Amino acid sequence: MGIERVSQNVYSIGVINPSLRIFDIVMKANYGTSYNSYFITGDKNVVIDTVHNDFFSEYINNLQSITDLNEIDYIIINHTEPDHSGSLRKLLEMVPNAKIICTTAGHKYLKQIMNMDFDATCVKDSEILDIGNESLRFIVSPMLHWPDSMMTWFEKDRILFSCDFLGAHFCEPALLDTEIHYQDEYLSEFKNYYNGIFGPFKKFVLSGLEKLKNLNMNVICPSHGPFLTKTIKSRMNDYHRWSLENDFEEKFILVLVASAYGFTRKLAEEAVCAINISKKVKARLLDVVATPIDKVSEDISKSCGLMVGSCTINRDAPKIIWDVLASVDAINSRGKPAGAFGSYGWSGEAVNMIAERMKGLGFRFNESVVKANFMPTEDDLIKMRNYANDIAESVIIKT
Ligand code: FEO
Repeated sequence: MGIERVSQNVYSIGVINPSLRIFDIVMKANYGTSYNSYFITGDKNVVIDTVHNDFFSEYINNLQSITDLNEIDYIIINHTEPDHSGSLRKLLEMVPNAKIICTTAGHKYLKQIMNMDFDATCVKDSEILDIGNESLRFIVSPMLHWPDSMMTWFEKDRILFSCDFLGAHFCEPALLDTEIHYQDEYLSEFKNYYNGIFGPFKKFVLSGLEKLKNLNMNVICPSHGPFLTKTIKSRMNDYHRWSLENDFEEKFILVLVASAYGFTRKLAEEAVCAINISKKVKARLLDVVATPIDKVSEDISKSCGLMVGSCTINRDAPKIIWDVLASVDAINSRGKPAGAFGSYGWSGEAVNMIAERMKGLGFRFNESVVKANFMPTEDDLIKMRNYANDIAESVIIKT
């Protein structure tokens, strides 16, 4: 990506990475990404965020083509995750007199990321930076999506530098919302980005939107993907709707099952039936072998309690169970009532291993687990009903 002019005084100086397919080793990036960085020219010259370390040479070429590096006064780091701070150390070595502006948490992280001394000013919410004839205002936005996150508002041009907020892993040669060729793909990635980055922080998303609601924005310049102009309101509405949608859905306990011969499934069905008969809370059964993992993960996030049932194969749970547990939003699962159960043939290790993993994720277990040898007996089914009802009771008490 070359340099693009965003306004009279603002340039986009970032880079694109069209080949990226996995971001942060966990998140799909089906159409690559961009690492956006910006330059504001004026009485004081300001860089906003840098780019991934792998793209430093392209980045510094962009920057040098519009300014003498000695003329840079400030480097604002809205967020220190290395996809944005990765080039900062090399940049500082070339512009040692530039002052870094960041949050207190950002300062702490940068010290650990760069392992060097640097001149920094920590700013608070609503603090103003005078840049000569103009000014910048900082909108500190903790947990959007790191403790260090903030946004920067350039009042004169009505541009918000929103950091990861309202971004997307998507790249086309021109990064303007009105010029996107593949709109459906972009919107799909915009949603994936929300789910992956901001899904665990919905209440912070709502407070972030609240902070922006009175800004009369011309452009939102995020740190990934297209700049928003005509679509600002629509994309903010998306965030608002997605952050509230769980609140309007009926609460339910999710009962997941992986069953080789139907024995564990029989336990699962007994649990669902017992909870639904009690009418304290709803229960839903989901076969993890037959369901896309994204759907399982989404339902876990929406559930108010989770039960995981699995057979044991060769002294372990099947891989699909570990894949499912690896997709859990651990931040919002803390304290959620939970249980583990399963039928086994020889030794039945899987159920206890699952329970330990779920406890590690922060789920709350009141009792141990339920296990049955091969086909569950009537006694096993009674234990399962009681176990499920106790979890339903915990959900009622918690909510
Ligand atoms: Fe794009 Fe949170 O880094």
